[in-house]
Amino acid sequence: MPDEYLSVDLIKQNTVTRVIGRNVIYLPVTTSTNEVARQAARERATEGTVVIAGQQTAGRGRLGRNWSSPPGSLALSVILRPQTSRLSSLIMIASLAVVHAIEKVTGLKSQIKWPNDILINNKKVCGILIENAWKGSGLDYSVIGIGLNVNFNPADYEEVANIATSLSMELGRPVSVLKVIRTVLMELDIYYSVNDVFTEWKKRLTTLGKDVKIVSGKTMVTGIAESVGLDGSLDVRCPDGVLLRITVGDVTFKS
Ligand code: BTN
Repeated sequence: MPDEYLSVDLIKQNTVTRVIGRNVIYLPVTTSTNEVARQAARERATEGTVVIAGQQTAGRGRLGRNWSSPPGSLALSVILRPQTSRLSSLIMIASLAVVHAIEKVTGLKSQIKWPNDILINNKKVCGILIENAWKGSGLDYSVIGIGLNVNFNPADYEEVANIATSLSMELGRPVSVLKVIRTVLMELDIYYSVNDVFTEWKKRLTTLGKDVKIVSGKTMVTGIAESVGLDGSLDVRCPDGVLLRITVGDVTFKS
């Protein structure tokens, strides 16, 4: 289903939320929804403001990478002003919201790969980028950016052809972008209001128990992904028996 018909009114219609989506900005094409959201947050946009785009020309990924958002993908960013103590739960909230939204709209089962990927059949269908801004010693705002492959064929894009999938590829038919947006917003709203997201997040992680290689900057760690901490960190048992706590990095599964 093409997304040209999208509008703020349509997105808000039937989207029943308390905080998320109080204010919606829809841009058919923009540079980066995270960038637009950060600008809006600096101008005191209300908590729950959402920026949505069908295409990004300068989408950002984690660790300074680019994120490609071709037509048929969805880029969505949400401004939040949580208590600092809740910051580490934002990735859990976003991941669970996406997993549930995918299942509600398509029936497809997806998994969470630590720290920020959503996979279907071992291929990436969604990436999440959280950016925080500080004022003095306190948090000013957080932006949760969600890039979800809805209706495109990754095989058409060389850089992601082997590692990515999309909802339409998995389902074998196009998926309503409008339904996906509404459902993601409602699920985000639910999970943002829940206190304990850790238990479900941990249960949904596909990473635990696997033999992994983690690259973090110039450091590489291998071992068994044993557990996760309440702060979202990953505990890896190295071959020498040492347990390492990893807070940032890229995970690959060793077969
Ligand atoms: C990653 O896997 O590296 C995270 C990708 C996050 C991409 C989303 S798309 C919406 C938002 N705007 C951006 O520029 N990036 C995030």
